[in-house]
Amino acid sequence: IEGLGDQDRLHALQAAWIEQGVPQCGYCQSGQIMSAAHLLASNPSPSRDDIVTAMTGNICRCGTYSRIIAAVESVAAGSRPDQQEGA
Ligand code: FES
Repeated sequence: IEGLGDQDRLHALQAAWIEQGVPQCGYCQSGQIMSAAHLLASNPSPSRDDIVTAMTGNICRCGTYSRIIAAVESVAAGSRPDQQEGA
């Protein structure tokens, strides 16, 4: 997780996690983000079902699932401002 972004810039998923207010207690979040990164590396345009399937097995006792899906979808759609060309 520490190597996902770089020193000057968060990875798009990390930024989306913050934007969506995903983390609650934080316990599961490293695994959630790394699973999402793996998904997007192999499938840059996943459907909602693809996201749900890929994230299955990452248990979040705080119930952040809907926010996780929203964050992954925002990155997959390229809708984050830091993903725009020239940003
Ligand atoms: S944020 Fe608390 S377990 Fe996922």
